[in-house]
Amino acid sequence: MVDVKQILSQMTTEEKIGQLMQHNANMFIDSSAAVTGDNSNKLGLSQKVINTVGSVLNFCSSVEMRTIQDMHLKNDRNKIPMLFMMDVVHGFRTIFPIPLALGCSFDPNLAARCSEMAADEATAGGVQVTFTPMVDYVRDARWGRVMETCGEEPLLNGMMGAAQIRAFRGKSLSDKTSMATCVKHFAAYGGAEAGRDYNTVELSEHILREYYLPAYKACIDAGADMIMPAFNTLNGIPATVNFWLMKKVLKEEWGFSGIVISDFNAIGDLERHGITNDEKTAARLAFENGCDIEMVSNTYTHCLKELIEKGVFTEEQLDDAVLKVLNLKNNLGMFEDPYHGADIQENSERFLTPEHRATARKAAEECAVLLKNDGILPLSPQVEKIALIGPFADNHEIIGFWSCNGKNEESVTVSEGIHAAAPNTEITVTRGCGNLYDDCDRSGFDAAVKAAAAADVVILCLGEPQNYSGEGNSRADITLTGLQDELAAAVANANKNIVALTFSGRPLALTELEKNVRAILHMWFPGTEGGSAAANLLFGYANPCGKLSMTFPRAVGQCPIYYNHTNTGKPKFFPDDKHQPYASNYIDCPNSPLFPFGHGLSYSNFKYENLELSDDVLYNNSKIEVSVTVKNCSDTVGKETVMLYMRDLFASNSRPVQQLIAFEKAEFAADETKTFKFNITAPMLGFWNNENKFVTEDGVFQISTGCADRLILTENLTFISNAE
Ligand code: GLC
Repeated sequence: MVDVKQILSQMTTEEKIGQLMQHNANMFIDSSAAVTGDNSNKLGLSQKVINTVGSVLNFCSSVEMRTIQDMHLKNDRNKIPMLFMMDVVHGFRTIFPIPLALGCSFDPNLAARCSEMAADEATAGGVQVTFTPMVDYVRDARWGRVMETCGEEPLLNGMMGAAQIRAFRGKSLSDKTSMATCVKHFAAYGGAEAGRDYNTVELSEHILREYYLPAYKACIDAGADMIMPAFNTLNGIPATVNFWLMKKVLKEEWGFSGIVISDFNAIGDLERHGITNDEKTAARLAFENGCDIEMVSNTYTHCLKELIEKGVFTEEQLDDAVLKVLNLKNNLGMFEDPYHGADIQENSERFLTPEHRATARKAAEECAVLLKNDGILPLSPQVEKIALIGPFADNHEIIGFWSCNGKNEESVTVSEGIHAAAPNTEITVTRGCGNLYDDCDRSGFDAAVKAAAAADVVILCLGEPQNYSGEGNSRADITLTGLQDELAAAVANANKNIVALTFSGRPLALTELEKNVRAILHMWFPGTEGGSAAANLLFGYANPCGKLSMTFPRAVGQCPIYYNHTNTGKPKFFPDDKHQPYASNYIDCPNSPLFPFGHGLSYSNFKYENLELSDDVLYNNSKIEVSVTVKNCSDTVGKETVMLYMRDLFASNSRPVQQLIAFEKAEFAADETKTFKFNITAPMLGFWNNENKFVTEDGVFQISTGCADRLILTENLTFISNAE
């Protein structure tokens, strides 16, 4: 470790401001040049910028990172190493399932294992800081970035994010396979109106505090080194310069003392938000609201020195921000090793190891969700003829958006997986649809129908393109793209024994498909080992155990649709498929989702019984133990996530009809019975009221277990707040 205060004391104001700037590495040198050694400056950026800039993003390899670092250190008077940051969202070169899929595992330990391996690869690749986890709360499947989060339940989202942070950070940031983390996007980016990316967010404070903020707080408590404000306005003011969010909540209430880094050009975006067209005002607003590092835009470089000279800010305020950056570099051991262990080879041996691939396969198996199964699954490996049909039948593009340095061509396709899992089966592979986008080329239909007619089983591999989710990729229609639904109907006319394997970065409205198939196994974008995981699940070598982290609508018109909704004053009591006048429902669609949050089938058969409370009255300082017995009534080993829900029947605010308050996942041997125990305390029954206070009000609470819309067992408890 070095004495960063001593270094700071020798720095000029310009050099200090340089530490608060983050540039796109591809502005410095041509990344291919880094490999060839021709370090000519591509854009003629002044050497001064390269000498003093504090960090970079969007570089391509450890070789390029070393080149840039060497160029920088050779000329930086203070010999302060740069930081190299990247979005290691679900893997670096070995790609794991997208975070929305990871949420379906309900397994923070799995999330941690994936993050540890991602950190091992990313540090070898020259990365010291990852812009993860993204824990934006989501309720609208139209939003493309739902793929980056662990879903619509704050408790689950926060636990998964915190597990990732602890794993990335390891035992010490100075360890060569540890990385600093940046939780994002603060806050409520997932609340974008109409599910349209970057759109306006208007939310009451108590809703923000109840649903949208907890996961960020869980990540800060887990040690997040940095936080990134969101692009969106929150109640009229862009998050980046939102005093309530950035100063009152983040600093005063939560005491966050880490680094705040703007999102990409977000300070520059203030002009388009209509906040200011003056760079100096933009810089002032951002810095006074606590933004330490400016990503890509240059208002700090252009204006911060003058703002200090004019007394708008003091040198000490600048020093405070710069010291956070120097401390992070020091904690990472960058002054001793400016490469932080980055491999000297571009293609590190730490990439795509058998262990990483095995974990990616296991993760993909645990994150897949068996949405429907009439018993056709698992398939017998002895099945004679399989028709593998659809645009994802032999498609490498299953690693998803934000797949960092992952390569599609390194993924295992469904066809490769199934050929390996069923070597004696005759497998006919045909795409049927021209591609995922085309909505008029039916030329492949005949071959698909013919293959289906001749097969014992059809595996229909459908979905949305992997570039239809992720940043900037919201959709106004969330059905299968192109002619896929039509293909499914045509194939169903030829053979009823259809299993659908679906791929997406968001919940899809699979309503048409569901009518035509006997089973649906949803893979999300499962990553590098997606095809082998799919095959293992289809043939029963692995048993599906995923539970939906986000609701699957019947139609996009239901969005936003989520499990923890309120009852309204005119709830529907007619059968859900019947329109009910003067009730909260649609004329043309049931209220219920196609598949609810928490839904997921298994090849095992789990029976729940004996939900028992240790007492039926809870007081302020007491706790009630809830126990439930679960039996695996099958000869198939399997995992089950047992969930505990509560409903506050009457309160000063209308409360959700269900709210997850605890969960536990366990593996069951054949015919094994397990008893799960959970403790309930008063805060677990609380909520943020209209005065923005967190309260637990006296009253009756329903405690249930099962899945959000199919609760299996329920008992009531009474909370009495003033009795000891
Ligand atoms: C993007 C994203 C953010 C990411 C950053 C750097 O615009 O909003 O999530 O970390 O830029 O790539």
